[in-house]
Amino acid sequence: MCYDSTVSWKRPYDKVDMGVVDASIVTTHMILQVTNLGLGSTWVGHFNADIIKKNLELPEYLVPVALLPIGYLRSDSAPHQLHGKRYDINDTVFFNSFEGITQGKNDEGQRDLLK
Ligand SMILES: Cc1cc2nc3c(=O)[nH]c(=O)nc-3n(C[C@H](O)[C@H](O)[C@H](O)COP(=O)(O)O)c2cc1C
Repeated sequence: MCYDSTVSWKRPYDKVDMGVVDASIVTTHMILQVTNLGLGSTWVGHFNADIIKKNLELPEYLVPVALLPIGYLRSDSAPHQLHGKRYDINDTVFFNSFEGITQGKNDEGQRDLLK
């Protein structure tokens, strides 16, 4: 999944390129449809973009965001060990102020979940 950086919307206030957001929305819907068809997939964001661009001969203006392998699930495949674990809601939802939020808290939470 790529976005075209020549037409993606750049937020005027801070010039943030929203192409990643657009590509992520499409990728999410593709995963839902893949599942609906009885197939399996997983979002792969851990890749070397330069190698992907070279191997897929992408034009410079196409920015790769996600790889989406699609296939039939093995009968013994299982979700990641963190799949059924969730952060405490008090670490992710705040009302009226962000009082109590700690920078890096989610990294800490992830380590807790892995225990
Ligand atoms: C931005 C992003 C990048 C991801 N990159 C990878 C990846 O490189 N390799 C991988 O095996 N899974 C990757 N995943 C999939 C996650 O490991 C996880 O399986 C998926 O988000 C489902 O989460 P859940 O099991 O908590 O429902 C990625 C997910 C997201 C949202």
